[in-house]
Amino acid sequence: MSQLYQRHFLRLLDFSPAEIDYLLTLSAELKSTKKSATEKQYLKGKNIALIFEKDSTRTRCSFEVAAYDQGANVTYLGPSGSQIGHKESMKDTARVLGRMYDGIQYRGYGQALVETLAEYAGVPVWNGLTTEFHPTQLLADLLTMQEQLPTKKLSEMTLVYVGDARNNMGNTMLEAAALVGLDLRLVAPKGCWPEEELVAHCRQAAQQTGGKITLTENIAEGVQGADFIYTDVWVSMGEPKAVWEERIALLRGYQVNSEMLALTGNPAVKFLHCLPAFHDDQTTLGRQMAEQYGLHKGMEVSDEVFESAHSVVFDQAENRMHTIKAVMVATLGQR
Ligand code: CP
Ligand code: NVA
Repeated sequence: MSQLYQRHFLRLLDFSPAEIDYLLTLSAELKSTKKSATEKQYLKGKNIALIFEKDSTRTRCSFEVAAYDQGANVTYLGPSGSQIGHKESMKDTARVLGRMYDGIQYRGYGQALVETLAEYAGVPVWNGLTTEFHPTQLLADLLTMQEQLPTKKLSEMTLVYVGDARNNMGNTMLEAAALVGLDLRLVAPKGCWPEEELVAHCRQAAQQTGGKITLTENIAEGVQGADFIYTDVWVSMGEPKAVWEERIALLRGYQVNSEMLALTGNPAVKFLHCLPAFHDDQTTLGRQMAEQYGLHKGMEVSDEVFESAHSVVFDQAENRMHTIKAVMVATLGQR
C-alpha cells in the first residue's frame, strides 16, 4: 500500500480502517512466509535506530529479529549510554539520527516526545510504547484475535478489557475498537477509566465501523458474552512506586480469575495480556508485591487463568514480531 510508505507509526487513529486492515493482512503474510522459509527481504541494507528509555523484552526483540529477517541493521540505544534526554533534546537527537538512519523506533515517556522525534527526523518513526499509547501491541492483539476466531470478523468480536484502563493499553484499545469496529467494554472502577475526551473522540470515530465502546464498573454485566478478556499490569512503567498501594486497593476486585471467566457465559473465552504479567511470585517485583499485599498467585490475573487453555498470551507475544515487521516493511520497504 503505497500510501503507507515513509509514514510514521505514532498512534492508531493516524490510520484509516483500510490501512489497519492492510497492516494485519501483511502481518499474516509475513508470518506465513517466515514459517514456510519463503520470506522475501524488503529492508535490505536499511539502518534502524532503536531508542529505549524504558525497559523491554518483546518490543526490542521484535524490532531486532524483524529487522534481521528483512535484511536491515539495528543500533540499540538504551536508557543510559547515549546523550538523549540528559545532554541532548529530542529535537536535536531527531536531526542527528535522521542523517544516519532510515527508520527510528522510540519507547519512552510522553507521546509529545515521539511526535517531536517524528517531526524533525525526516525518516519514519515508530512508537514502541509511550505513557499514552502502545499501537504496535494492539496490532499484535488484533492479529491474535483473528487467528483465534477465524470464522468471525473483528467487527463481530467482543473484547473486554479489565483493570487499569487509564493507561497506554486502555487508550490504544479504544482507538483499535473505533478502527476495526469491535464491541469493546472497559471494566474498571471509575478512577481507572480513560480521559473522557479520548473516549468521546473514539466513539465518534467508531461510527464509521460500527464499533461500540462501553465503560462500566460492573464486572458481571461487562464480561457477559465476551470472546476475549484482556488485562494489563495495575501500575505501568514510569509510574511512581507510591501508587501501588492505592491501585491495588482500587483494582483488587478486578482480578481476571476463573470466576470472572465463568461470568462470561462463554466456555471458549480467550485470555489476552500484553505481558509482562504479575501472575505468580517468581520475579523480584512479584515477590515483593506478594509479600506486601498477599497476592502470591497473581495480581491482575490469577496464575490459574494465565496457565490455562484459555490463555493465548504467548501467541500474542510472537505476533509482536510479525506485526512490527509489517509496520517496518509497509513504511520503509520497497514492495
Ligand atoms: N508487551 C510489551 O511491550 O512487552 P515489552 O515491555 O517486553 O516490550
Ligand atoms: N501498561 C504497561 C504496558 C507494558 C507493555 C506499561 O506501560 O508498563
